[in-house]
Amino acid sequence: MGGVLPLHTVMLGDGALPPVLFVHGFPISHEMWRPAAERLAARWRCILPDLPGYGRTPARAECGIGSYADDLAGLLDAMDERRRVTLVGLSMGGIIALEFFRRHRSRIGAMVLCDTRYNAETAEGVVQRERVARMALDHGTRAVAETMIDRALAPNADVAVRARLMGLMCATPPEGVAAGSRALAGRADSFPTLREIDVPTLLIWGREDQITGLDIAEVMHREIRGSRLEIIEGAGHVPPMERAEEFARVVGEWMRSHEANAPCRGA
Ligand code: MLT
Repeated sequence: MGGVLPLHTVMLGDGALPPVLFVHGFPISHEMWRPAAERLAARWRCILPDLPGYGRTPARAECGIGSYADDLAGLLDAMDERRRVTLVGLSMGGIIALEFFRRHRSRIGAMVLCDTRYNAETAEGVVQRERVARMALDHGTRAVAETMIDRALAPNADVAVRARLMGLMCATPPEGVAAGSRALAGRADSFPTLREIDVPTLLIWGREDQITGLDIAEVMHREIRGSRLEIIEGAGHVPPMERAEEFARVVGEWMRSHEANAPCRGA
């Protein structure tokens, strides 16, 4: 790998290990994956980018789910990573993973989709997403975080996890929050894509997810051929933070059972 990467990215694990690309949710950064990724890094190369406007990657005025997916492909190019990756996405990250599948299918060996959605935004949802964007720009990210934190976690969430998630949300610049909210408003309908998925796919959901409920997981499990659904007890919308050890165990056991690192693009 040479030169400056297009996204701020943390790498854990040796570069020769099979690559796993983790895509974070809204409105947080790669840090949400760290507790789980640190447990996986002995066997996998864990690639943890910050999307534009999150963590340490500067914001861009115009973003969409498609541009985030292309940013990730650009990151793999800049890393000269030619092997197929296991693509792991949570919530907005899962929506981006489905878009990445449509645009960059040959780069994916397997997928892990967590607490996410497949539908296009509803008319009511588009209005609400614009309200969130305006709230971030006019009143700051904390105002948005305060409306999200209770629903993002299981009702009995650990206080330290709650403080950590609040801190990650509040660290996101308002421009990143606004761009992400508008990107979510404009997302495509991924329902038809579900039946086209032909890579091993693991679905992981928190039993107490109040944002993307288990009914969504059940539809995805039914539509994605051969998919496996794992439910994490005691977790809400962010199992890799709320139940990092169990999340890492489930992902690790499943990844060991799949070959996800065959060369692609003639490498
Ligand atoms: C996320 O965690 O990425 C968001 O909750 C996505 C959403 O609100 O749909």
